[in-house]
Amino acid sequence: MRIGIIGAGTMGVGIAHAVATSGWDALVVEPDATQRGKARDRLDEVISSGVTRGKLTRAEADAALARLAFHSSAAELPEGLDWIIESVPEKLELKRTVLAEAEQRTPRFLASNTSALSITSLAEGLSAPERFVGMHFFNPVWSMKLVEIVVAERSQDAAVKAAVDAARGMGKEPIVVKDAPGFASSRLGVLLGLEAIRMVEEGIASPEDIDKAMTLGYGYPMGPLRLGDLVGLDVRLAIAEHLSQTYGERFAPPGLLREMVAQGKLGKKSGQGFYSWS
Ligand SMILES: NC(=O)c1ccc[n+]([C@@H]2O[C@H](COP(=O)([O-])OP(=O)(O)OC[C@H]3O[C@@H](n4cnc5c(N)ncnc54)[C@H](O)[C@@H]3O)[C@@H](O)[C@H]2O)c1
Repeated sequence: MRIGIIGAGTMGVGIAHAVATSGWDALVVEPDATQRGKARDRLDEVISSGVTRGKLTRAEADAALARLAFHSSAAELPEGLDWIIESVPEKLELKRTVLAEAEQRTPRFLASNTSALSITSLAEGLSAPERFVGMHFFNPVWSMKLVEIVVAERSQDAAVKAAVDAARGMGKEPIVVKDAPGFASSRLGVLLGLEAIRMVEEGIASPEDIDKAMTLGYGYPMGPLRLGDLVGLDVRLAIAEHLSQTYGERFAPPGLLREMVAQGKLGKKSGQGFYSWS
């Protein structure tokens, strides 16, 4: 398979890694020359570290590196790729423009890696919306197994099946989800995180003990408050605000979350959240 990836930021690099180490060609589009150089270096570093960690032989790593190509615009992509996966910043109009450009390259299928935008709404303006789905990868892509395949109103079964097969081919575990705000992962994960914050607010237990309830009692790999600190509390607040527009009160951001964000307590990236990260 030959897969185009548009946008070589955090996620585009991860997707390119998954594609190239699965034996497929990864054609990466990144208009920013500095970012393009960084993406190339990062992929080199991560693929080579696979050799150190015993995941790949040197020959496999070299073959994966040889399957990477870098371009400065979507117009440079060859026609007829199996997939083009868009992973540019989370802005509706930018994504629509990029998807329309991608479609000009006549890929068999087209996907967006959006975390929160409606796939149905992104499909407006496409001439073949039936070949378009969401493929929501998780960060860091090299260690997270999940891909949410998001089915828009006009996505056809053939596109959904091809996305499931492509995700499995990249060593991922796909789930198929109807296009609705928060898909499956954010809708459940954010709800748990918000309830945990309400419990801190009510003085039910310390953040550490609330997290332990989930890690030691329920076998979660990480508690919801620690995870919120890692994701960024500002990001959590934005998602809660977005989801509360559709799902109402149960996603309303707790006052404590708003206060912490206003005070610059954003979690790991600012050094302080529910935990101290200094
Ligand atoms: N970061 C995460 O944890 C995460 C997880 C899942 C999904 N996502 C989603 O993935 C997408 C990308 O997120 P990211 O964190 O990688 O962002 P990022 O800012 O790290 O990377 C985006 C890249 O797109 C490039 N870009 C901008 N305009 C472009 C254009 N017209 N054509 C091609 N490239 C262009 C930028 O230069 C940048 O390198 C977003 O939709 C985001 O919601 C992010």
